[in-house]
Amino acid sequence: MAQPAQVVSMNRTHNEDQTLTLVTGASRGIGLAVACLLSLNRVPLMLTARGKPDLLRARDALRETGADVYCHSCDASDEKGMSEAFSQAASVKPIGSVFNNAGVLGPIAPIRDVNIAEFESHLATNVTGVLVGIKQALAHHDPGQCLRIVNVSSGAAAHGYRSWAAYCASKAAVNLLTEVAAMETDDSVSVVAVAPGVIETRMQKIIRSTPVERFPDVGKFQELKESGALLHPVAAGQALVWLLRQAPPSLSGQCVDARDKAFLRHVPAMESEMMIQARTLFNSIEQP
Ligand SMILES: NC(=O)c1ccc[n+]([C@@H]2O[C@H](COP(=O)([O-])OP(=O)(O)OC[C@H]3O[C@@H](n4cnc5c(N)ncnc54)[C@H](OP(=O)(O)O)[C@@H]3O)[C@@H](O)[C@H]2O)c1
Repeated sequence: MAQPAQVVSMNRTHNEDQTLTLVTGASRGIGLAVACLLSLNRVPLMLTARGKPDLLRARDALRETGADVYCHSCDASDEKGMSEAFSQAASVKPIGSVFNNAGVLGPIAPIRDVNIAEFESHLATNVTGVLVGIKQALAHHDPGQCLRIVNVSSGAAAHGYRSWAAYCASKAAVNLLTEVAAMETDDSVSVVAVAPGVIETRMQKIIRSTPVERFPDVGKFQELKESGALLHPVAAGQALVWLLRQAPPSLSGQCVDARDKAFLRHVPAMESEMMIQARTLFNSIEQP
């Protein structure tokens, strides 16, 4: 474990210190990176994921920053488990933002070979999980406070990939869930979907190791890795943290491409010391 990191402040909203952020899929990858950045800013956190040992390890490491960090192990699509996580979070601090990030990629197979039970399990995580996260966030929302919900989508929501029927369908569904949630809520709530870019996580390793016979586009992802085009999760996390803590209401209902230069112009760069600390913390928990 790295030495406890010094705190370097990021731009704050009026209610930054008073509210908690709930992150699903927080035990590794993008969710863990966002949790690292927020913990270094002393934002209280509730972390969720299914695997308890990894989740506890993340919680314990993040607590060393001095932030209030809690965790609850449950499936994102399990409404009872998620309701317990939200209730526990709300008993600590009002929930100011929710990062519906938990997601899976498989089954990776042409439609003719897709196992229906695996397809339904995928939709449960990637679609029902996001719906549960939005529903619970709204159930715990105080209309006098600001609530930001960020749902993790993908470029695959807008462009089909052979053998990714489940993933393309589920991420397109996330975008539409986001739009509907924004239509159903008032100005105190913003709901944004984000395609975070191509980020070096376990999911990318799974993509690159899939045989070409099963995933014809595997070469594209292998080339991205070889050319150094993949982002470290913490580098990608900067824009995601901004969406969670400072996104303007005008973005509500939209799907933001985190690689879009016009979007990135609005995202202030965090101090380089903060980014280094966050990478060190992340790498001490998970080697990307
Ligand atoms: N990496 C990329 O390039 C990329 C690009 C576009 C979009 N995304 C999206 O970004 C999100 C995070 O992906 P990642 O790359 O960080 O993947 P990752 O490293 O595989 O992490 C996934 C996280 O989600 C959790 N999770 C998976 N299924 C879950 C379930 N049913 N209930 C609760 N938690 C669950 C995992 O923990 P447990 O397994 O222990 O539950 C883990 O914490 C996903 O929605 C993914 O689709 C990633």
